[in-house]
Amino acid sequence: MYISIEGASREYTFKGKRTVSLEKVNLQIKKGEFICLLGPSGCGKTTLLNLIAGFDRPTSGVVKVNGEIVTKPSVDRITIFQNYGLLPWRSVLRNVELGLESKNIDKKKRQQIAEEYIELVGLSAYKKHHPSQLSGGMQQRVALARALAVDPEILLMDEPLGALDAMTRMSMQDEIERLWQENKKTIIFVTHDIEEAVFLADRIVIMTPSPGKVKSIIEVPLARKRDRTGSDFLKIRDRVFAEFELKPSDMTEYYL
Ligand SMILES: Nc1ncnc2c1ncn2[C@@H]1O[C@H](COP(=O)(O)OP(=O)(O)OP(=O)(O)O)[C@@H](O)[C@H]1O
Ligand SMILES: [Mg+2]
Repeated sequence: MYISIEGASREYTFKGKRTVSLEKVNLQIKKGEFICLLGPSGCGKTTLLNLIAGFDRPTSGVVKVNGEIVTKPSVDRITIFQNYGLLPWRSVLRNVELGLESKNIDKKKRQQIAEEYIELVGLSAYKKHHPSQLSGGMQQRVALARALAVDPEILLMDEPLGALDAMTRMSMQDEIERLWQENKKTIIFVTHDIEEAVFLADRIVIMTPSPGKVKSIIEVPLARKRDRTGSDFLKIRDRVFAEFELKPSDMTEYYL
C-alpha cells in the first residue's frame, strides 16, 4: 500500500494532563487517491496530517510511505497550511520559487518552473504582486502553485479553503480537482465541509474526537466532474450527514 497508517496513536502530556489526540488509527491509501478527512474541531485531523508529513511522530504505531517508515519531512510530501504560509515581503513569483530553493535547481530554471505553475493557476498577470495585494482566493492559488511547483507525490492540505466565501470556494474545488486529475497526485485534504468532501473525495474518512479516532470511511463512487445538485450526490451527502446524526434539511450549508 502506498500510504499505510498502522495503529498510529499520538498522545500529548501538558502540565501533567494526558490528551489522546489520535488513537490507534488504521488507514490505507492508494497512490493517486483523493482522501478527505472530515470531523469536528479537535478530532485529530491536523495531528494525523502532521504524522504523514513527518513533522511529528506517533507515540505508538507507524506511518509508512512506499513501505518506509516516515521519520522526517520530505520534498515528496508537501503541506498547504490553512493560512497559506505566504511570505508577505516576497512577490507571487518569488513565493512560488520558495519551495524550489530547497531543491538543487538553478535560478533561471527555478523562475521558469515557477512561471509555469503561476500560469496553471491563472495568475500570470499577478506574478509581480505581493500577497497583500491579492484576494484570499488568489493567495490560496499562490500556495497551491508553490506546492505543485515542487512536484511532490503527496499533497497534504489542511483546511485550505476554510477562509473563502462560498463562490470562491466552489471554483477552488473545481481547480483542485482539475489539478489533481492532470498531475496524478495523492491528496489528503482536511475539511469541515460535508459537501466539499463529497465533491472532492474518492473516500471520506470520518473522524470523532476524545480520543481522535476514525469512525467510518465512506466511498464516493461518483464520476467526475460531480454535479453538486444531482440525486446521487445528495444521497451520499445525506449518508455522511447521517454519520453525524444531522438532518440536511436543517441547513443548506453546514460546517461541523
Ligand atoms: N502540541 C500539542 N500539545 C497538546 N495537545 C495537543 C497538541 N496538538 C494537538 N493537541 C490536542 O490534540 C487534539 C487534536 O488536535 P488537532 O489539532 O489534531 O485537531 P483538529 O481535528 O485538527 O481540529 P481543528 O478542526 O480545530 O483544526 C486536541 O484535543 C488538541 O488539544
Ligand atoms: Mg486542525
